[in-house]
Amino acid sequence: MRWHTQGESANRHIRTALALRQGECQHGPVEISDVAALRSAAGRVLLDSIGRYDSAATMRIAETLAAAGNPAELVAAALTQARLRERARGRFGADADRMLFTPDGLEQATRATVAAHRAARLTGAGHRRVADLCCGIGGDTIALARAGCFVEAFELDPVTAAVAAANADELGLTGRARVTCADATAVDRTGFDAVFLDPSRRAGGRRIFDPGAYLPPWPFVAETLAGAACVKVAPGIPHGLVPAGVEAEWVSDHGEVKEAALWSGAFRTTSRRATLLPSGATLTDGAPGRPPVRAPGRWLYEPDGAVIRAHLVAEVAEAMGGALLDPRIAYLTTEAPVPTPFATAYEVTDVLPFALKPLRALLKAQDVGIVTVKKRGSPIEPETLRRQLRLSGSAHAVVIVTRVAGKPTVVLCRPPQPAA
Ligand SMILES: C[S@@+](CC[C@H](N)C(=O)[O-])C[C@H]1O[C@@H](n2cnc3c(N)ncnc32)[C@H](O)[C@@H]1O
Repeated sequence: MRWHTQGESANRHIRTALALRQGECQHGPVEISDVAALRSAAGRVLLDSIGRYDSAATMRIAETLAAAGNPAELVAAALTQARLRERARGRFGADADRMLFTPDGLEQATRATVAAHRAARLTGAGHRRVADLCCGIGGDTIALARAGCFVEAFELDPVTAAVAAANADELGLTGRARVTCADATAVDRTGFDAVFLDPSRRAGGRRIFDPGAYLPPWPFVAETLAGAACVKVAPGIPHGLVPAGVEAEWVSDHGEVKEAALWSGAFRTTSRRATLLPSGATLTDGAPGRPPVRAPGRWLYEPDGAVIRAHLVAEVAEAMGGALLDPRIAYLTTEAPVPTPFATAYEVTDVLPFALKPLRALLKAQDVGIVTVKKRGSPIEPETLRRQLRLSGSAHAVVIVTRVAGKPTVVLCRPPQPAA
């Protein structure tokens, strides 16, 4: 624990408040002493009194709290947490207001919906004693414990481990989750039914895209996948890196691809899978033939990103009786509407060769003022095209720029109807 002298504390508090207000840094530092201090009675009252974080009012709030006799160190720590909680609500919902975070820990934490899906898969297979080898601030630990597992969680960084332990305790999961500050590579795995590993994909505040630079390193990941395990990886993982006999599952939430998970041993059910949350619709690899290729029919479909990443577009085409617009572009088409959870359907109104003037004239004639621009297989920048169109009408259209029979083409569509 390191508590600063009054002078240092005041300086840190003012620096943090100023930096937060000016947006110069996104967060103040989080120290191990902050965890206990923020969980003390005084810390809780202070955090509650800040409530929703308002960056414009940071300095005023900091001054008011300090003037009320709160230690400057605690005020700085509470302001940092208030800001992190604000950012965490999208991932953790109402739980965010009871949790603590570190900036890196929050960036890397699995969102609650995705963690719950994974935990359900693990418990569905009957696995109860789970080792969470790199638990971070505890996103997956919490979901696993809530799903009924007994979780032994390990984390190398002492501050992050303290935060994870505090979060499990705060959410009433102490009896189901125990956090130890330890190196995952040295953990004895005997006695565990399953291992979950979420290696670090950040260093020095930056994202790591190369799996070779994960921490713990890739050989440890590969060794973990030799038993019954689940390893979370970035969705951009090259298919060639997935070890033989391991399932790769790509998961999206509300249409955004969030992660890939590698499932080995008893957890493997297929070789490739796409799961769409929140519906839970899931698609596995079959052995479809090559989908036919034809010009746009009355309906155009944009497969979910998880389906595309999992290379399962042909499976969707086969299930729908659909065709591709181009052999290498992930747009599908049918003449009659075919409902599918795996793609967004657009009703086609017009198809024309790509050229700015005729496109603009057509959209103006249709009183279109709002356009959603989508593209695949075209170098255009959606934002640039939107600006170049200079539209002022009131109707909404979807402009899809792609290739049909090798030619740059625009497919105009009605906006999709929100699901009932
Ligand atoms: C991607 S984060 C885990 C996020 C977590 N699943 C969650 O949802 O909150 C990876 C964590 O692994 C930790 N880590 C990296 N190398 C480690 C090692 N050898 N042993 C234990 N933890 C390690 C990092 O400090 C980081 O907090």
